[in-house]
Amino acid sequence: MSNQRYQWDRLSLGVCYYPEHWPERMWAEDLDRMKENGIGTVRIGEFAWSKIEPVEGCFTFDFFDRFMGLCAEKGIRVIFGTPTATPPAWLTEAHPEVLNARMDGVLYRHGGRKHTSCNSPVYLDYCRKIVTAIAERYGHHPALAGWQIDNELNCETADYYAEADDEAFRVWCRERYGSLDALNEAWGTVFWNLTYTDWSQVHIQRPTVTNAVNPHMLLDYSRFISDSVIRFAALQAEILRKHSREDVFITTNGLFGRLDNHRLTDECLDVMTYDSYPNFAYGLDRAFDPKAMNDRGWSRALTEVSSVCPHFGIMEQQSGPGGWYNRMESSAPRPGQLSLWALQSVAHGADFVSFFRWRTCPFGTEIYWHGILDYDSRTNRRLREVKSLSGKLDRLQELCGADHAAAFGVLHDYDNQFDADIDVWHRRLAQASEEGIFEASQRLHAPYDRVLLRDDTPAEALLAYPVLMYPHPLIMTAERVSILKRYVEKGGTLIMGCRAGLKDIHGRMVTQPQPGLLRELTGTTVEDFTFASIAEETPYAMLGAQRLETPVFNDVLTADEGTKVLARYASSYYAGAPALTEKLIGEGRVLHFGAVFSRETARLLLSLCGLNEPFREWISAPEEVELVLRRKGGQRWLIALNYKPQRQICRLEVPCGALLSGESCAGAFTLPPYGVEVFRLPGADELLTARKEKL
Ligand code: GAL
Repeated sequence: MSNQRYQWDRLSLGVCYYPEHWPERMWAEDLDRMKENGIGTVRIGEFAWSKIEPVEGCFTFDFFDRFMGLCAEKGIRVIFGTPTATPPAWLTEAHPEVLNARMDGVLYRHGGRKHTSCNSPVYLDYCRKIVTAIAERYGHHPALAGWQIDNELNCETADYYAEADDEAFRVWCRERYGSLDALNEAWGTVFWNLTYTDWSQVHIQRPTVTNAVNPHMLLDYSRFISDSVIRFAALQAEILRKHSREDVFITTNGLFGRLDNHRLTDECLDVMTYDSYPNFAYGLDRAFDPKAMNDRGWSRALTEVSSVCPHFGIMEQQSGPGGWYNRMESSAPRPGQLSLWALQSVAHGADFVSFFRWRTCPFGTEIYWHGILDYDSRTNRRLREVKSLSGKLDRLQELCGADHAAAFGVLHDYDNQFDADIDVWHRRLAQASEEGIFEASQRLHAPYDRVLLRDDTPAEALLAYPVLMYPHPLIMTAERVSILKRYVEKGGTLIMGCRAGLKDIHGRMVTQPQPGLLRELTGTTVEDFTFASIAEETPYAMLGAQRLETPVFNDVLTADEGTKVLARYASSYYAGAPALTEKLIGEGRVLHFGAVFSRETARLLLSLCGLNEPFREWISAPEEVELVLRRKGGQRWLIALNYKPQRQICRLEVPCGALLSGESCAGAFTLPPYGVEVFRLPGADELLTARKEKL
């Protein structure tokens, strides 16, 4: 479903480099050492506006001319970041109207980064000029491989409260609703007398007594911010494309909130890149838990990236301990972990992995954000590991461009994502189920794809997945219901959880019985509902003889005639009422579950759908090992990743070539601590077909 326009043709390594942080005499040696250690690309420039325009309107290119020239000479490819995340002091001092603001109107000042408004016409104008200057200068440079737009759009903040944003929001609302009557109706402004009688009264969020403003306005605000950021990126993309060679790609890095990353990628980029810091998952203050997913949990984020862009790149891959002077963040990668994390990215679809950063900066906010090299530049264990990783990638080249083969899909959409960011009742369910489903899928060795559902998604695209989970689609539209119906009729299994169908596109509650527009599909009605009470034990249901947790929130269901009750609640005042139902439609079925999908619940339900160990004909592996299947041109590879400091023993049921060890393996296979192996599966197509039928 993605229309990605650029793909790397080799697995390769890169690194983030800041020529402005080092004396020029160090450049040549740095570039030589990168090459010696298997690094062929550098990402530069994204915070270096003043090196190009030190004074308003005076563009000087000597600095980057020299650096780009050296890269061309040394055969290093360059990804150039447009420097719009950090405007120069002269700009914001002369034009405070470009600055982003706190909700109370106080402006964010020069001193950090990402402190501008993406709706400020003045800022857009300065961005247009600097991006044009850089694009004209380097768009055809022999060293240039690609452009990175800005840096991590919406990362530092996704809240924009500048005057310019307020004004742009009014324009956006006028375009969306046409009349104030329509806006008042959509936002339910009659509540608390919010009714607007003139467009000038419409604002983005401002300080209020309760601080809880109209949620329907907030939902539109998220859509507005997403549109604004996409327009900001599109402005740059158009300039970059106009002035560059055909083969130069355009990307940006990271996936952040209040942003339709699918639209961003489709409309502005050739390929998406992501910033992968798996140790963020640890959290320094968290108690050690041997069962926790920790860095393995980062695979969930990588699954999100591949949903946006299946063959992506990593622009910043964690290579050292992390922190700023005011943030103590993450420990050093253990020996082996740096490669494990890079291969985790590769396993999930990255064909290019660039480390953050070549050398730790001895000054500035990020003095503790360690790169490959330490301040003293000596060859250390991390650099040695990068070199050995580059040798590993050489052995894995056949994997480049291979597709992820998922056992099932998890549907999502931006209306519900934005709504869950605002509505804590929604968020609680969404977060718990996302985690539960991910952990269950990891432990069952049944990887999933995250699948975007839009009003115009073809049902056929969904049929690639025998099972689709759509955990809590509170917001539902008639168009999406009919796509889901077609998917089910043609043989799909659709599983939905509590509160489905509760809201309309504006985030207002629908007034028909629950699950609203989905009722015909589920063949159920929600009779009653409640939060799981803290005064009672965790509620549960019985599925045959098995106990099925029904945590967090319970929809108490009744089943229409023809809808089968698979499980009934067995606790609380609604004991005996249906908790899980099945309705057969055409060749498929809809499972309606009244609660949230915890790890154990998701595990049981996925097993019920035959998704327990889908690779068991080829391999059995302990729960501690992640398994990923990729395929390309009739060939398949199984990637096994061990995130633990202990070795893990897997069993190959068919003889396979192990690409990293270079051996042919059968029977027991030991993965060393933090070890990875890639198995080329034999017998290509037949087994795949057999497997598909079973799923
Ligand atoms: C990223 C950012 C980098 C650097 C890094 C470490 O989010 O893109 O510029 O700040 O984090 O803090």
